[in-house]
Amino acid sequence: MTEHRDPFLYIVVCATGIADGVGELITAAHSEGWKTGVIATPSALGFLDQEAIEAQTGHPIRSAWRTPGIPQPLPPADAIAVVSATFNTINKWAAGISDTLALGILCEAYGLGIPVAVQPYVNSALAAHPAYPESLARLRSMGVLIGDHMPHRPKSGGARETYNWTHVLDLLRPTLGDLQESAT
Ligand SMILES: Cc1cc2nc3c(=O)[nH]c(=O)nc-3n(C[C@H](O)[C@H](O)[C@H](O)COP(=O)(O)O)c2cc1C
Repeated sequence: MTEHRDPFLYIVVCATGIADGVGELITAAHSEGWKTGVIATPSALGFLDQEAIEAQTGHPIRSAWRTPGIPQPLPPADAIAVVSATFNTINKWAAGISDTLALGILCEAYGLGIPVAVQPYVNSALAAHPAYPESLARLRSMGVLIGDHMPHRPKSGGARETYNWTHVLDLLRPTLGDLQESAT
């Protein structure tokens, strides 16, 4: 008999000044029927309330590769949401660089066929760099669902109030529907 489990969403969080708002996404994801686990980039760890996030998800935050022999701390991902997504991680992901656990998971997702949605959080000065639109175009061509965040003003301290944490859930709703349907 196949064991039924709830759809599991990996939430990848990058290092921006708004990263500590990820709890809003976790709450919304749970209310839609996802279980969640957070993968933080090493730089993002310093921006997060790790204890609060782990209490919310019920899983340790992952940030580094485990050593051989340590069991996999999270169930396999049914989908991945990348939020507070930085210029750095977006460009490295598109270029196929895998030097953080988060990037390794994202780079592998393409080959594994795991649906991924990303909501960038990049200022307009960084967004003007030619690598950025090229990276988004490459990710789009890989089937990554890209949110509609408008770059914020540089040196403004960001645009926390306009960042849409839950848009990734809108983008992944058809995936969730398919997963729920196939479980019934
Ligand atoms: C306070 C602060 C705010 C930042 N905000 C942003 C941001 O909004 N967008 C961005 O792309 N990078 C931002 N950065 C820069 C990233 O943290 C930096 O590029 C880092 O290397 C990203 O690492 P990651 O992509 O592995 O998370 C910020 C850095 C600091 C210290």
